[in-house]
Amino acid sequence: MSSALPAPLVPGQPLTALAPMQDVTDLAFMGVVAHYGAPDYFFTEFFRVHAQSRPEKHILRSIDENATGRPVFAQLIGEDLGHLARTAEELLRHNVAGIDLNLGCPAPKVYKKNVGGGLLRDPARIGEILACLRAIVPGRFTVKMRIGFDDTSPFDRVLDLVNEHRVDLLSVHGRTVKEMYRSEVHYDHIAHAVARARCPVLANGNVLSAARAVAVVAETRAAGVMIGRHAIRNPWIFRQCREAFAGRPVTPLTLADVRNYVERLYRATQVPGLAELLHVNKMKKYLNFVGQGVDPTGAFLHDMRRTASEAELFGVCDRHLLADGAAAREFAPEPYPGVIARPNCETPNAVADGCSLDTVTA
Ligand SMILES: Cc1cc2nc3c(=O)[nH]c(=O)nc-3n(C[C@H](O)[C@H](O)[C@H](O)COP(=O)(O)O)c2cc1C
Repeated sequence: MSSALPAPLVPGQPLTALAPMQDVTDLAFMGVVAHYGAPDYFFTEFFRVHAQSRPEKHILRSIDENATGRPVFAQLIGEDLGHLARTAEELLRHNVAGIDLNLGCPAPKVYKKNVGGGLLRDPARIGEILACLRAIVPGRFTVKMRIGFDDTSPFDRVLDLVNEHRVDLLSVHGRTVKEMYRSEVHYDHIAHAVARARCPVLANGNVLSAARAVAVVAETRAAGVMIGRHAIRNPWIFRQCREAFAGRPVTPLTLADVRNYVERLYRATQVPGLAELLHVNKMKKYLNFVGQGVDPTGAFLHDMRRTASEAELFGVCDRHLLADGAAAREFAPEPYPGVIARPNCETPNAVADGCSLDTVTA
Protein backbone atom coordinates (compact mmCIF):
# COMPACT_ATOMS: atom_id res chain seq x y z
CA MET A 1 0.00 0.00 0.00
CA SER A 2 1.48 3.33 -1.02
CA SER A 3 1.29 6.37 1.23
CA ALA A 4 0.57 8.76 -1.68
CA LEU A 5 -3.13 9.60 -1.61
CA PRO A 6 -5.40 7.70 -4.02
CA ALA A 7 -5.97 9.63 -7.24
CA PRO A 8 -9.11 11.80 -7.13
CA LEU A 9 -11.88 11.32 -9.69
CA VAL A 10 -10.95 14.58 -11.38
CA PRO A 11 -7.21 15.22 -11.26
CA GLY A 12 -6.34 18.68 -10.02
CA GLN A 13 -9.68 19.34 -8.30
CA PRO A 14 -10.05 19.67 -4.52
CA LEU A 15 -10.75 16.30 -2.89
CA THR A 16 -14.14 15.21 -1.62
CA ALA A 17 -14.81 12.65 1.09
CA LEU A 18 -17.90 11.21 2.71
CA ALA A 19 -17.45 11.73 6.47
CA PRO A 20 -17.52 8.64 8.68
CA MET A 21 -20.92 8.36 10.36
CA GLN A 22 -21.88 5.65 12.79
CA ASP A 23 -24.95 3.68 11.64
CA VAL A 24 -24.96 5.61 8.35
CA THR A 25 -21.84 5.06 6.26
CA ASP A 26 -22.35 1.36 5.80
CA LEU A 27 -22.21 -0.71 2.64
CA ALA A 28 -25.79 0.19 1.66
CA PHE A 29 -25.41 3.94 2.12
CA MET A 30 -22.04 4.10 0.38
CA GLY A 31 -23.61 2.29 -2.58
CA VAL A 32 -26.49 4.75 -2.74
CA VAL A 33 -24.15 7.74 -2.59
CA ALA A 34 -21.96 6.22 -5.30
CA HIS A 35 -25.03 5.82 -7.50
CA TYR A 36 -25.69 9.56 -7.39
CA GLY A 37 -22.02 10.57 -7.60
CA ALA A 38 -19.28 9.08 -5.45
CA PRO A 39 -16.87 11.15 -3.39
CA ASP A 40 -13.17 10.67 -3.96
CA TYR A 41 -12.86 8.84 -0.63
CA PHE A 42 -15.06 6.94 1.75
CA PHE A 43 -14.40 6.39 5.46
CA THR A 44 -16.01 3.62 7.49
CA GLU A 45 -17.83 4.37 10.70
CA PHE A 46 -15.46 3.69 13.59
CA PHE A 47 -14.30 0.23 14.54
CA ARG A 48 -14.36 0.15 18.36
CA VAL A 49 -11.04 -1.03 19.77
CA HIS A 50 -10.71 -2.53 23.25
CA ALA A 51 -9.49 -5.72 24.89
CA GLN A 52 -12.36 -7.89 23.64
CA SER A 53 -12.96 -6.17 20.31
CA ARG A 54 -12.81 -7.81 16.92
CA PRO A 55 -13.46 -5.71 13.80
CA GLU A 56 -17.26 -5.49 13.57
CA LYS A 57 -18.51 -7.70 10.75
CA HIS A 58 -21.07 -5.23 9.43
CA ILE A 59 -18.41 -2.53 9.14
CA LEU A 60 -16.02 -4.94 7.44
CA ARG A 61 -18.70 -5.49 4.79
CA SER A 62 -18.35 -1.83 3.73
CA ILE A 63 -14.73 -2.64 2.87
CA ASP A 64 -14.91 -6.21 1.61
CA GLU A 65 -18.00 -5.77 -0.55
CA ASN A 66 -17.29 -2.21 -1.66
CA ALA A 67 -18.40 -1.98 -5.27
CA THR A 68 -18.29 1.79 -5.56
CA GLY A 69 -14.95 1.86 -7.31
CA ARG A 70 -13.71 4.39 -4.75
CA PRO A 71 -11.25 3.75 -1.89
CA VAL A 72 -12.40 3.20 1.69
CA PHE A 73 -10.36 4.22 4.73
CA ALA A 74 -11.01 2.20 7.89
CA GLN A 75 -11.51 4.30 11.02
CA LEU A 76 -10.51 3.17 14.52
CA ILE A 77 -11.52 4.55 17.89
CA GLY A 78 -9.59 3.47 20.96
CA GLU A 79 -6.62 4.29 23.18
CA ASP A 80 -4.88 1.00 24.04
CA LEU A 81 -1.70 0.73 21.99
CA GLY A 82 -1.59 -3.06 21.79
CA HIS A 83 -5.22 -3.41 20.79
CA LEU A 84 -5.02 -0.55 18.29
CA ALA A 85 -1.96 -2.18 16.71
CA ARG A 86 -3.66 -5.59 16.62
CA THR A 87 -6.79 -4.12 15.01
CA ALA A 88 -4.84 -2.07 12.47
CA GLU A 89 -2.93 -5.20 11.47
CA GLU A 90 -6.17 -7.12 11.07
CA LEU A 91 -7.73 -4.38 8.96
CA LEU A 92 -4.65 -4.11 6.77
CA ARG A 93 -5.46 -7.62 5.54
CA HIS A 94 -8.58 -6.15 3.95
CA ASN A 95 -8.76 -3.86 0.96
CA VAL A 96 -8.45 -0.60 2.89
CA ALA A 97 -7.10 2.64 1.44
CA GLY A 98 -5.60 3.40 4.81
CA ILE A 99 -6.11 3.42 8.57
CA ASP A 100 -7.80 6.46 10.12
CA LEU A 101 -7.74 7.40 13.81
CA ASN A 102 -10.78 9.07 15.40
CA LEU A 103 -9.82 12.04 17.59
CA GLY A 104 -13.18 13.71 17.54
CA CYS A 105 -16.19 11.73 18.74
CA PRO A 106 -17.90 14.03 21.28
CA ALA A 107 -20.25 11.50 22.93
CA PRO A 108 -19.73 11.69 26.71
CA LYS A 109 -20.00 7.90 26.86
CA VAL A 110 -17.05 7.79 24.45
CA TYR A 111 -14.83 10.64 25.59
CA LYS A 112 -15.10 9.59 29.25
CA LYS A 113 -13.15 6.47 28.25
CA ASN A 114 -10.42 8.79 26.89
CA VAL A 115 -11.02 7.76 23.31
CA GLY A 116 -12.23 9.79 20.32
CA GLY A 117 -12.50 13.45 21.26
CA GLY A 118 -11.52 12.60 24.84
CA LEU A 119 -7.93 12.07 23.72
CA LEU A 120 -7.63 15.76 22.85
CA ARG A 121 -7.23 16.34 26.62
CA ASP A 122 -4.07 14.23 26.55
CA PRO A 123 -1.74 15.15 23.68
CA ALA A 124 1.05 13.03 25.17
CA ARG A 125 -1.14 9.96 24.77
CA ILE A 126 -1.99 11.03 21.21
CA GLY A 127 1.75 11.11 20.51
CA GLU A 128 2.11 7.52 21.75
CA ILE A 129 -0.82 6.33 19.68
CA LEU A 130 0.38 8.07 16.51
CA ALA A 131 3.88 6.61 16.98
CA CYS A 132 2.45 3.12 17.50
CA LEU A 133 0.12 3.20 14.50
CA ARG A 134 2.67 4.88 12.24
CA ALA A 135 5.06 2.03 12.98
CA ILE A 136 2.39 -0.57 12.11
CA VAL A 137 0.85 1.03 9.03
CA PRO A 138 3.18 0.87 6.03
CA GLY A 139 0.82 2.78 3.76
CA ARG A 140 -1.64 5.56 4.44
CA PHE A 141 -2.21 6.55 8.03
CA THR A 142 -4.76 9.33 8.49
CA VAL A 143 -6.31 11.24 11.40
CA LYS A 144 -9.69 12.89 11.88
CA MET A 145 -9.77 15.43 14.67
CA ARG A 146 -11.68 18.28 16.22
CA ILE A 147 -9.89 21.52 17.08
CA GLY A 148 -9.79 20.87 20.83
CA PHE A 149 -11.71 19.51 23.80
CA ASP A 150 -13.23 22.49 25.60
CA ASP A 151 -10.90 25.04 24.07
CA THR A 152 -8.30 25.05 21.33
CA SER A 153 -5.20 25.10 23.55
CA PRO A 154 -3.96 21.61 22.50
CA PHE A 155 -4.50 22.26 18.79
CA ASP A 156 -0.97 23.26 17.81
CA ARG A 157 0.60 20.50 19.88
CA VAL A 158 -1.59 17.89 18.16
CA LEU A 159 -0.82 19.36 14.72
CA ASP A 160 2.88 19.12 15.52
CA LEU A 161 2.41 15.47 16.50
CA VAL A 162 0.61 14.88 13.20
CA ASN A 163 3.73 16.22 11.47
CA GLU A 164 6.17 14.37 13.69
CA HIS A 165 4.48 11.02 13.00
CA ARG A 166 4.09 11.62 9.26
CA VAL A 167 0.33 11.39 9.05
CA ASP A 168 -0.70 11.22 5.38
CA LEU A 169 -4.06 13.03 5.50
CA LEU A 170 -5.76 15.06 8.21
CA SER A 171 -9.48 15.75 8.39
CA VAL A 172 -10.37 18.66 10.67
CA HIS A 173 -13.89 19.14 11.98
CA GLY A 174 -13.75 22.82 12.91
CA ARG A 175 -15.43 22.56 16.30
CA THR A 176 -14.26 21.59 19.78
CA VAL A 177 -15.65 18.44 21.42
CA LYS A 178 -17.78 20.58 23.72
CA GLU A 179 -19.28 22.35 20.72
CA MET A 180 -20.77 19.05 19.54
CA TYR A 181 -22.55 19.53 16.17
CA ARG A 182 -24.55 22.76 16.13
CA SER A 183 -22.18 25.66 16.82
CA GLU A 184 -20.55 27.79 14.16
CA VAL A 185 -17.64 26.05 12.46
CA HIS A 186 -14.27 27.70 13.05
CA TYR A 187 -12.91 27.71 9.51
CA ASP A 188 -10.09 29.99 10.65
CA HIS A 189 -8.80 27.07 12.75
CA ILE A 190 -9.04 24.77 9.75
CA ALA A 191 -7.02 27.34 7.76
CA HIS A 192 -4.49 27.32 10.60
CA ALA A 193 -4.24 23.52 10.38
CA VAL A 194 -3.73 23.76 6.63
CA ALA A 195 -0.84 26.18 7.19
CA ARG A 196 0.77 24.15 10.00
CA ALA A 197 0.26 20.56 8.86
CA ARG A 198 2.63 19.10 6.30
CA CYS A 199 0.00 16.71 4.94
CA PRO A 200 -3.15 17.55 2.97
CA VAL A 201 -6.09 18.65 5.12
CA LEU A 202 -9.78 18.01 4.51
CA ALA A 203 -12.09 20.73 5.85
CA ASN A 204 -15.10 19.34 7.67
CA GLY A 205 -18.20 20.84 9.26
CA ASN A 206 -21.31 22.39 7.74
CA VAL A 207 -20.23 22.09 4.13
CA LEU A 208 -23.88 22.46 3.19
CA SER A 209 -23.65 22.61 -0.57
CA ALA A 210 -21.33 22.68 -3.56
CA ALA A 211 -21.25 26.48 -3.34
CA ARG A 212 -20.17 26.23 0.31
CA ALA A 213 -17.52 23.65 -0.64
CA VAL A 214 -15.99 26.14 -3.09
CA ALA A 215 -16.11 28.90 -0.45
CA VAL A 216 -14.65 26.71 2.31
CA VAL A 217 -11.76 25.57 0.10
CA ALA A 218 -11.08 29.19 -0.87
CA GLU A 219 -11.23 30.35 2.75
CA THR A 220 -9.16 27.56 4.30
CA ARG A 221 -6.96 26.55 1.36
CA ALA A 222 -7.71 22.96 2.36
CA ALA A 223 -6.95 20.13 -0.05
CA GLY A 224 -10.64 19.33 -0.10
CA VAL A 225 -13.82 18.89 1.87
CA MET A 226 -15.30 16.12 3.97
CA ILE A 227 -19.09 16.09 4.07
CA GLY A 228 -21.33 14.18 6.49
CA ARG A 229 -24.93 15.12 7.29
CA HIS A 230 -25.35 17.14 4.11
CA ALA A 231 -24.63 14.05 2.05
CA ILE A 232 -27.45 12.26 3.87
CA ARG A 233 -29.73 15.14 2.88
CA ASN A 234 -28.28 15.43 -0.60
CA PRO A 235 -26.37 12.40 -1.96
CA TRP A 236 -25.76 14.29 -5.23
CA ILE A 237 -23.53 16.74 -3.35
CA PHE A 238 -20.21 15.20 -4.42
CA ARG A 239 -21.13 15.32 -8.10
CA GLN A 240 -22.31 18.89 -7.59
CA CYS A 241 -19.00 19.74 -5.88
CA ARG A 242 -17.11 18.50 -8.93
CA GLU A 243 -19.30 20.67 -11.16
CA ALA A 244 -18.72 23.71 -8.95
CA PHE A 245 -14.97 23.09 -8.63
CA ALA A 246 -14.81 22.99 -12.45
CA GLY A 247 -16.62 26.33 -12.60
CA ARG A 248 -19.68 24.75 -14.23
CA PRO A 249 -23.26 25.42 -13.15
CA VAL A 250 -24.46 22.99 -10.51
CA THR A 251 -27.21 20.69 -11.80
CA PRO A 252 -30.36 21.56 -9.85
CA LEU A 253 -32.42 18.80 -8.26
CA THR A 254 -36.16 18.35 -8.12
CA LEU A 255 -38.40 16.77 -5.54
CA ALA A 256 -38.94 13.91 -8.03
CA ASP A 257 -35.19 13.22 -7.75
CA VAL A 258 -35.62 13.10 -3.98
CA ARG A 259 -38.52 10.62 -4.32
CA ASN A 260 -36.18 8.43 -6.37
CA TYR A 261 -33.50 8.69 -3.65
CA VAL A 262 -35.95 7.70 -0.91
CA GLU A 263 -37.01 4.63 -2.88
CA ARG A 264 -33.40 3.61 -3.60
CA LEU A 265 -32.36 4.11 0.02
CA TYR A 266 -35.36 2.12 1.26
CA ARG A 267 -34.51 -0.83 -0.98
CA ALA A 268 -30.77 -0.64 -0.20
CA THR A 269 -31.29 -0.63 3.56
CA GLN A 270 -33.83 -3.46 3.57
CA VAL A 271 -32.48 -6.37 5.61
CA PRO A 272 -34.10 -9.82 5.57
CA GLY A 273 -35.98 -10.30 8.81
CA LEU A 274 -36.07 -6.61 9.77
CA ALA A 275 -39.63 -5.80 10.82
CA GLU A 276 -41.34 -3.24 8.60
CA LEU A 277 -41.86 -0.74 11.42
CA LEU A 278 -38.20 -0.89 12.43
CA HIS A 279 -37.17 -0.33 8.84
CA VAL A 280 -39.56 2.61 8.52
CA ASN A 281 -38.16 4.07 11.74
CA LYS A 282 -34.62 3.65 10.41
CA MET A 283 -35.63 5.48 7.22
CA LYS A 284 -37.00 8.36 9.28
CA LYS A 285 -33.51 8.97 10.65
CA TYR A 286 -32.18 9.65 7.14
CA LEU A 287 -35.33 11.49 6.09
CA ASN A 288 -34.94 13.88 9.02
CA PHE A 289 -32.03 15.34 7.05
CA VAL A 290 -33.65 15.01 3.61
CA GLY A 291 -36.71 16.92 4.81
CA GLN A 292 -34.63 20.02 5.47
CA GLY A 293 -34.54 20.70 1.74
CA VAL A 294 -38.11 19.71 0.83
CA ASP A 295 -40.21 22.65 2.04
CA PRO A 296 -39.62 25.75 4.16
CA THR A 297 -42.34 24.96 6.72
CA GLY A 298 -41.22 21.46 7.66
CA ALA A 299 -44.58 20.00 6.53
CA PHE A 300 -42.91 16.95 4.95
CA LEU A 301 -40.98 16.30 8.16
CA HIS A 302 -44.12 16.68 10.25
CA ASP A 303 -46.05 14.12 8.20
CA MET A 304 -43.12 11.76 7.63
CA ARG A 305 -42.42 11.49 11.37
CA ARG A 306 -45.96 10.23 11.97
CA THR A 307 -45.89 7.30 9.57
CA ALA A 308 -45.90 3.72 10.86
CA SER A 309 -45.69 1.55 7.75
CA GLU A 310 -43.99 1.40 4.37
CA ALA A 311 -47.28 2.30 2.65
CA GLU A 312 -47.79 5.35 4.89
CA LEU A 313 -44.19 6.45 4.43
CA PHE A 314 -44.36 6.30 0.64
CA GLY A 315 -47.84 7.85 0.73
CA VAL A 316 -46.35 10.89 2.47
CA CYS A 317 -43.44 10.91 0.01
CA ASP A 318 -45.81 10.81 -2.97
CA ARG A 319 -47.94 13.63 -1.54
CA HIS A 320 -45.03 15.95 -0.74
CA LEU A 321 -42.57 15.02 -3.48
CA LEU A 322 -44.70 14.17 -6.51
CA ALA A 323 -48.34 15.34 -6.28
CA ASP A 324 -49.81 18.67 -7.42
CA GLY A 325 -46.75 19.83 -9.30
CA ALA A 326 -44.33 19.02 -6.45
CA ALA A 327 -42.27 16.69 -8.66
CA ALA A 328 -40.86 19.58 -10.68
CA ARG A 329 -40.21 21.83 -7.67
CA GLU A 330 -36.63 22.47 -6.68
CA PHE A 331 -35.01 20.50 -3.87
CA ALA A 332 -33.29 23.32 -1.97
CA PRO A 333 -29.49 23.15 -2.29
CA GLU A 334 -29.14 24.12 1.39
CA PRO A 335 -31.45 23.42 4.35
CA TYR A 336 -34.35 25.82 4.74
CA PRO A 337 -33.61 28.09 7.72
CA GLY A 338 -35.19 26.83 10.91
CA VAL A 339 -36.07 23.38 9.56
CA ILE A 340 -34.16 21.20 12.01
CA ALA A 341 -33.35 17.50 11.61
CA ARG A 342 -34.42 16.41 15.08
CA PRO A 343 -33.93 12.91 16.42
CA ASN A 344 -37.22 11.14 15.87
CA CYS A 345 -39.82 10.40 18.48
CA GLU A 346 -39.24 6.63 18.36
CA THR A 347 -36.00 7.06 20.27
CA PRO A 348 -36.92 9.17 23.31
CA ASN A 349 -34.47 7.33 25.53
CA ALA A 350 -31.54 7.59 23.18
CA VAL A 351 -28.50 7.67 25.38
CA ALA A 352 -26.10 10.55 25.02
CA ASP A 353 -24.20 8.82 22.27
CA GLY A 354 -23.17 11.88 20.26
CA CYS A 355 -22.06 9.84 17.25
CA SER A 356 -25.40 8.30 16.48
CA LEU A 357 -28.29 9.24 14.26
CA ASP A 358 -30.51 9.12 17.33
CA THR A 359 -28.98 12.24 18.77
CA VAL A 360 -27.13 14.18 16.11
CA THR A 361 -29.15 16.89 14.42
CA ALA A 362 -28.42 19.50 11.80
C1 LIG B 1 -24.86 10.27 12.73
C2 LIG B 1 -23.43 10.67 12.82
C3 LIG B 1 -22.47 9.71 13.12
C4 LIG B 1 -21.11 10.06 13.17
N1 LIG B 1 -20.17 9.08 13.39
C5 LIG B 1 -18.84 9.40 13.30
C6 LIG B 1 -17.84 8.39 13.31
O1 LIG B 1 -18.11 7.17 13.40
N2 LIG B 1 -16.53 8.80 13.23
C7 LIG B 1 -16.18 10.12 13.10
O2 LIG B 1 -14.99 10.44 13.02
N3 LIG B 1 -17.12 11.08 13.06
C8 LIG B 1 -18.43 10.76 13.13
N4 LIG B 1 -19.37 11.74 12.98
C9 LIG B 1 -18.94 13.13 12.71
C10 LIG B 1 -18.89 13.40 11.19
O3 LIG B 1 -17.91 12.59 10.57
C11 LIG B 1 -18.58 14.89 10.90
O4 LIG B 1 -17.34 15.20 11.47
C12 LIG B 1 -19.63 15.83 11.47
O5 LIG B 1 -20.94 15.37 11.23
C13 LIG B 1 -19.48 17.24 10.87
O6 LIG B 1 -19.61 17.21 9.47
P1 LIG B 1 -21.00 17.62 8.72
O7 LIG B 1 -21.37 19.02 9.19
O8 LIG B 1 -20.66 17.56 7.27
O9 LIG B 1 -22.03 16.62 9.16
C14 LIG B 1 -20.72 11.41 12.97
C15 LIG B 1 -21.70 12.36 12.66
C16 LIG B 1 -23.03 12.01 12.57
C17 LIG B 1 -24.03 13.05 12.18
